[in-house]
Amino acid sequence: MDPTDAGPRPGPSPTETEKRQAAVAAAELVADGMTVGLGTGSTVAYLLPALAARRLDIRCVATSPRTETDATALGLRVEAFSQLDRLAVAIDGADQVDPDGWIVKGGGGAHVREKIVAAAAESFVVIVSSDKEVPRIGPPVPLELLPFGLAATLHELGCARVRPSTPPSPDGGVIADWTDPFDDPAALATYLDSVPGVVGHGLFHPGMVSTVIVGGR
Ligand code: A5P
Repeated sequence: MDPTDAGPRPGPSPTETEKRQAAVAAAELVADGMTVGLGTGSTVAYLLPALAARRLDIRCVATSPRTETDATALGLRVEAFSQLDRLAVAIDGADQVDPDGWIVKGGGGAHVREKIVAAAAESFVVIVSSDKEVPRIGPPVPLELLPFGLAATLHELGCARVRPSTPPSPDGGVIADWTDPFDDPAALATYLDSVPGVVGHGLFHPGMVSTVIVGGR
């Protein structure tokens, strides 16, 4: 068939449009001279070109090898996170956002690095499409587990499930998910923080989050 007969191409979905809108708005918050933490995921994939297009003099750290590769290819200056002890801003996506400001991250398995970067930033900006807004956060909550003693850690956690067909984190951690419903995210976060084999979890408390940008608002 002649490709010119194929008719108009479908445009991006409303969700993709909202992701891009949120990412572009966040890129506008970055100024010359800033140190910037770059998150991971399909929403951040819109942030990187928007940020690169501004041609600012900024230094970035990446939360995943994928983000580092993509950001570097776009001309952003990405440095090892051993070189910077604080960041002006970190910008990242999320899987769930609730009205109290709790967020869940880690759908891509990068939540431990993402939390370290977010915690080091003066301002943590979350960029989401509106489908990420939920009345209350719930399972699955991503986990990163130490391979040593994995069976014992899973036994302690009870409802944690290793995520199938998912490679280890860049730091060698096993990616899993907490699967039980929960009423109190703070209590669950405290419990998960107390289990020795849990390297980290995807619950980000409201105090970590400076701004949530929902695309299209
Ligand atoms: C990566 O591990 C995650 O924390 C992502 O930031 C989160 O899953 C949002 O990803 P999307 O932007 O692809 O929805």
